[in-house]
Amino acid sequence: MNTKSKKWMIILIGGSILMISLLMILENRGEIFSSNKNTVYDNTEDINSELDMEENTVEEKNEPEDESTNKGDIIEDAGKDFSPGKPVEPSIEEDIPSLAEVFSDYFSIGAAIEPGHTTGLIAELYKKHVNMLVAENSMKPEAIQPTEGNFTWGAADRLVQFAKENGMELRFHTLVWHNQTPDWFFRDNEGKPMIEETDPKKREENKKLLLKRLEEHIRAVVSRYKDDIKSWDVVNEVIEPSDPDGMRNSPWYQITGTEFIETAFRTAREAGGNDIKLYINDYGTDAPAKRDYLYNLVKEMLEKGVPIDGVGHQTHIDIFSPPVSRIIESMKKFAGLGLDNIVTELDMSIYAWNNRSDYGNNIPEHIFDTQARRYQELFEAFKENKDIISAVVFWGITDKYSWLNGFPVRRTNAPLLFDRNYHAKPSFWAVIGSSEPKQ
Ligand code: GLA
Repeated sequence: MNTKSKKWMIILIGGSILMISLLMILENRGEIFSSNKNTVYDNTEDINSELDMEENTVEEKNEPEDESTNKGDIIEDAGKDFSPGKPVEPSIEEDIPSLAEVFSDYFSIGAAIEPGHTTGLIAELYKKHVNMLVAENSMKPEAIQPTEGNFTWGAADRLVQFAKENGMELRFHTLVWHNQTPDWFFRDNEGKPMIEETDPKKREENKKLLLKRLEEHIRAVVSRYKDDIKSWDVVNEVIEPSDPDGMRNSPWYQITGTEFIETAFRTAREAGGNDIKLYINDYGTDAPAKRDYLYNLVKEMLEKGVPIDGVGHQTHIDIFSPPVSRIIESMKKFAGLGLDNIVTELDMSIYAWNNRSDYGNNIPEHIFDTQARRYQELFEAFKENKDIISAVVFWGITDKYSWLNGFPVRRTNAPLLFDRNYHAKPSFWAVIGSSEPKQ
């Protein structure tokens, strides 16, 4: 090989080595990229959760400072305190006004309660802010008579006792409902579901049997509590605009028509006398179609002498709808029949009714702001109409235990006036028509 060829050989070999090295480097980088890509989802999750933890710590650290500087401004305070899982100890804010006292010239303020909440810190929250209670579950048919003739009073008695000890009124919820009512009510003596019966004679017998069971249930309950409880939900949710005649097509209705409603009210009156007040309770009573079905039913019942004293408006609303004016309009309509109105299950979801999403730990501030403004508007309207509203009852007291954390899907909701640490939210301050005192 001559010198020229040798030179070329060296250049070729050197070039190849260089090319190969370059290729290897590039390939390695590619591997690094692609492996990053493969793990990007997991990594992001890890990083995010670390960031969340950091954010929570920072938030917690800043909190006392924020509280002392931002009090008085519901908008700036909004959204700050309410993330679930924040490592802040629940406590009762002793120095804030009592809701019940603030509204003492207007109407009673109530809240739904479970027997387990009659002791401990949460019991103190009820004692401070409400002068009326209602059993969230303990007085429903399945809780009181789980099997025929077997009455279980323990949980209900505990609530009666707690209300008495603390000078609170108690509402009864509910004598009749299609949910949380044991199946035995609707089975014939052979154990067959009454709704399946096709023989007219047997259907008639079933109807009698069901109405007899209803009467026995109501007599037992009303005689036991008539001296302790003045305000009674007699029937719950019997209207359903999309069912025939606007009547909910429940087993009660399928087996007895509207007779169960009539029997329930008459039996309650007989057992409890004129001192107890009897309500027909429903949700969505502001919606014109539903309201009018309810109105027509109640009017017809009153004309027949059925003893109905008032309408319970559940008022499970959300931060977007319905308009407050519609809620009041409906109450006025029933007042026109000489009836009382009670807001029986008030809460305000932070999600629109058809939304299934979940803010988790990050409920935006503007949501709390919107909620506060709407609660304020609602209570201003209630106050203006105090003559036709005898009580406003919340469905629970703190966001922590609201049923809306599990309905319609499991998620974080914040529909009430107190947060997960039992502290007053912007909505609380909006409701009492005041701003948080400066410190
Ligand atoms: C309805 C019932 C209440 C309660 C709520 C959800 O509004 O009237 O008893 O079950 O649903 O908690």
